[in-house]
Amino acid sequence: MDDIVIRTENLSKIFEKGKKKEVTALDHVNLEIGRGEVFGLIGPNGAGKTTLIRVLVGLLTPTEGQAWVLGKNVVEDIDYIRPRVALLPQEAGIYERLTARENIVYYGGLYGIPEDELHRRADRLLDIVGLREKEDYQVKGFSGGMKRKVLVARALVIEPEVLFLDEPTTGIDTIGARVVRNLLKKLSSEEKRTIVLTTHDLNEVSELCHRVGILNEGRLVATGKPSELEEKYKAANLEEVFTGLVTGEGVFEG
Ligand SMILES: Nc1ncnc2c1ncn2[C@@H]1O[C@H](COP(=O)(O)OP(=O)(O)OP(=O)(O)O)[C@@H](O)[C@H]1O
Ligand SMILES: [Mg+2]
Repeated sequence: MDDIVIRTENLSKIFEKGKKKEVTALDHVNLEIGRGEVFGLIGPNGAGKTTLIRVLVGLLTPTEGQAWVLGKNVVEDIDYIRPRVALLPQEAGIYERLTARENIVYYGGLYGIPEDELHRRADRLLDIVGLREKEDYQVKGFSGGMKRKVLVARALVIEPEVLFLDEPTTGIDTIGARVVRNLLKKLSSEEKRTIVLTTHDLNEVSELCHRVGILNEGRLVATGKPSELEEKYKAANLEEVFTGLVTGEGVFEG
């Protein structure tokens, strides 16, 4: 892979949970993601997907190992990384009392983008996600999927080199999810943006992601192109690969 944008080396994260209790959310993860890739992180609830993203954007410090984004260390050089990456968080993060447009423009403002430019980008993004008519409503009255669309638009407004999207299409209706996927495909193919996303929708992974990483109990148990993994594990589809690796059922028995 030429031009590696994200790299981790034996990356581990342990959460202390009181006396002698701890959770290993990431367990010696080694990963490389190249420029322009759409990389899908999949795994069961609690596998460590969100933790990995949070470490890569500097919201959590690793317990062990190292990680680099755009060639810079996520602990030492986070000030370099922050303005160059966008995060769509899995939960919260939206400003309930601001309108849809204000959410987008305010977030972009934090990245130092001029306001007139932000409004131009917001026009386009609000059109794309279908919220133009609702742009001046406070988002606290929005449905879950509508809030998600605002967060997607907000993450995209800064046109960053790297996008971390934690369940971008969760809660978004079929048509909206397609629109988001098409937008992400375009960002990767035409503009060489690097995209790391998590999802529980394996069809989405097959359609959208160049490569996928399967996390289970903090361990990266497989990485590769969806088709390569199907071949390697002699599985009919990605779901069979996933189920087999996570539960040991089916094609992996015997
Ligand atoms: N801030 C925290 N404090 C303590 N434990 C945490 C914290 N964040 C995550 N964990 C634990 O780390 C593990 C991995 O959680 P994480 O949120 O990364 O999973 P996930 O793969 O994103 O799951 P999901 O599919 O449900 O979003 C879980 O056991 C979780 O309970
Ligand atoms: Mg998560």
